[in-house]
Parts: sequence; C-alpha cells; structure tokens
Amino acid sequence: MEKHIILLPGDGIGREIIDSAKQVLTAIASEYNHRFTFEEHAIGGNAIDDYNTPLPDKTVDACSKADAILMGAVGGPKWDANPSHLRPEKGLLGIRKQLELFANLRPVKTISSLLYASPLKEEIVNQADMLIIRELTGGIYFGTPSERTPNGVVDTLRYTREEIERIVERGFEAARIRRKHLTSVDKANVLESSKLWREIVEEKSKQYPDVSVTHLLVDAAAMKLVTQPSFFDVIVTENLFGDILSDEASVLTGSLGMLPSASLRSDGLGLYEPVHGSAPDIAGKGIANPLAMILSAALMLEHSFGLVDEAKEIERAVNDCLLQGFHTADIHIPGGVQVGTKQMTEAVLENVTTKSISDSICKSYV
Ligand SMILES: NC(=O)c1ccc[n+]([C@@H]2O[C@H](COP(=O)([O-])OP(=O)(O)OC[C@H]3O[C@@H](n4cnc5c(N)ncnc54)[C@H](O)[C@@H]3O)[C@@H](O)[C@H]2O)c1
Repeated sequence: MEKHIILLPGDGIGREIIDSAKQVLTAIASEYNHRFTFEEHAIGGNAIDDYNTPLPDKTVDACSKADAILMGAVGGPKWDANPSHLRPEKGLLGIRKQLELFANLRPVKTISSLLYASPLKEEIVNQADMLIIRELTGGIYFGTPSERTPNGVVDTLRYTREEIERIVERGFEAARIRRKHLTSVDKANVLESSKLWREIVEEKSKQYPDVSVTHLLVDAAAMKLVTQPSFFDVIVTENLFGDILSDEASVLTGSLGMLPSASLRSDGLGLYEPVHGSAPDIAGKGIANPLAMILSAALMLEHSFGLVDEAKEIERAVNDCLLQGFHTADIHIPGGVQVGTKQMTEAVLENVTTKSISDSICKSYV
C-alpha cells in the first residue's frame, strides 16, 4: 500500500515526538511491504513566527491532498500574549474546521503496568476500556454570535440535524465493532439541542438493533466515569461535553503521555495527534514520552488506512516496552528503567521488529 502522510510537528515537544512516530511507521512499512511518504508543514506558534499566521494556506492545501495527517501539538508561553487571531490553537481549530474533521475519537484503556499510577483505586479502574467520540466542528465553540455585549456576554450553541446524525452514526458504527454498548451523553432535561440529540439517537438506534443504548445526562456521566469507568464502551457526545469528559477520562490511565486521538472526516481522512499539549516545560530536553504520538500513528493505520494488523503490532510493541519496564520521566514503573525519548523510541522499534514478549517466552519453551 502507498500512502502520503503530512507531518505537522507544531511546537514544544512536537518535533521530538513526531520523529519517533515517523521512525515507527517507517519500520512498519518495511516489515509489511508498504510505502509511506512524508511531507512536513507548519502549524501553530512556529507558523506564526515564519508566516505570520497559525495556519498557512499551503499547510491546508497539503493536508487536504494527503491520505492522513499526523500532528504533534501547538502552543507555548512565547505566543500567550498574542492577539486572538495570532494564537497557536487557532491553527488547530482552523484545520479541524476547514477539513471538516467532525468526529474526535479518544480511546482510553488502562494499561496493566501503569494501573498503580491512576488516581483511582485499581479495582475501580482495572477494566476500563472505552472510546469517547466527541463532535468537533459544531456546538458552542463555533456558534455565532459569540461576543461581549454592553451588559454581559453571549455564546451560541447551534447544531443542525445533519451534524448530529453523522456523529451519532459514528458512535453506533464504533459500538458495533466493539462491545455493542453506546452511551449517549446530553443535557436533555435543560437544553433544546440535547432534546434533538436524544431524539436522533433514538431514531438511529432502530438501524442498529444489535447495539444497546444508554442515555446519560452529562453530570451523571461525569460521576460514572470515576465511580464505574468499566460501564462504558463507546460514549458519543457533543463538542463541549466531549471536551470536558474526554479530559476527565484521560486521567484515569495515570499518564497523559500515553493517550492518542483521531479527528476524522466522513471519507476517512483523519488528523491524528496525542491528547497532551506541547509540554513547553520539557521541550528540547529529550525526555518527552513519545508513546501517545506513536499510538496516534497506530490509530491512523487502523482508521484511515484500514491496516488493523499493523496498528495492533504497534500497540503490542508499546505494551511490551512497558512490560519490559521501560518508561519516560512522566511515568514510573516500579523496578523499571527510566529512559529518554530516543531510547523509548528505540525500545518500541526493537519490539516492532522482533517478536513479542509472549512469542519469545513461548519460543523458549519449544
Ligand atoms: N492539541 C494541542 O495542540 C494542545 C492540547 C493541549 C494543550 N496545548 C498547549 O500546550 C501548551 C502547554 O499546555 P499544558 O501545560 O496545559 O499541557 P501539556 O499537556 O502540554 O503539559 C501538561 C504536563 O504534562 C507534561 N507532559 C505532556 N505531554 C508529555 C509527554 N509526551 N511526555 C512527558 N510529559 C508530558 C508536561 O511536561 C506538563 O508538565 C499550551 O500552550 C497549551 O495551549 C496544545
């Protein structure tokens, strides 16, 4: 298979970790006989410095012609005082909107060797394995007017029926290939937008009789995430609720440095990035955890290219590294070895190109 991938390193640790993902993709391509080509473009703070805009036209052009996009992260104190049109995050919001990347997917799964690092008790977080699907291009973040008035402020929450239908369908489709349980999160006791949302979920559920549906109000969902995270399989929700709940869910696993995400269009084009930010406090020190970025590349293989075996191979390699005790400074594995970005990447590459731990253990008994 031949695929062209746009790399958007962004700011802070973006450059360091995207190089790790590129190396892993190159190793996978060679092992499975694929050809991945890469082209790099600017976004965020570095684009402001070089082009006086957080999202240059040529970045958008290249992304719209690509098979998939891998992004590091944007932002940092250097641009914090900039006027709003020259803020790095405008680049990210802009690319999502311009490419119509309406569905944000965040898998959250606990990893056995990191269970101790969760702020929750092990017995509560133990079986957590969920996929949060958040609507990304509508709702209150994009509604107009959004402004200060002489006596106060106004923000606008607006959704079309079509915008709700397409994200709800994503939710059902994802649930169908997982454990067949969809939790739809809304605030239907108060908001008109949520009432329509709930009606549409009910309508769509008729097309997916194999998927069971639970409706939860967002406040109840927030509580259930920390009291019974294993209840959830797929969660589908609108933009603002999804923003908050997915960050809440991200701390369940104990490390932000482990979580990938995907933002998808209906035709499969996707932008893949870690959940964490640009970590300016550790940029350039060679200690950033590259695993969320590497797992984002695995999500890309699965969701944009349909390369499920290759994606699973990367996930296995990452898991094996942790089982072998390798960890970066942001996580701790008792009795393990602390390494930097480069060594962690090498450990993943080693596990991609050699057999899995379980395979080698099996072999030693043959
Ligand atoms: N999608 C994005 O591009 C995105 C998302 C969130 C924040 N940001 C931006 O990132 C900048 C910093 O934001 P923040 O500090 O709130 O969040 P952050 O996620 O960048 O960092 C929070 C903490 O986690 C650590 N951390 C994050 N990723 C890590 C990794 N891979 N390895 C090791 N440690 C890691 C950081 O060192 C820091 O201590 C801000 O400018 C913010 O706007 C960008």
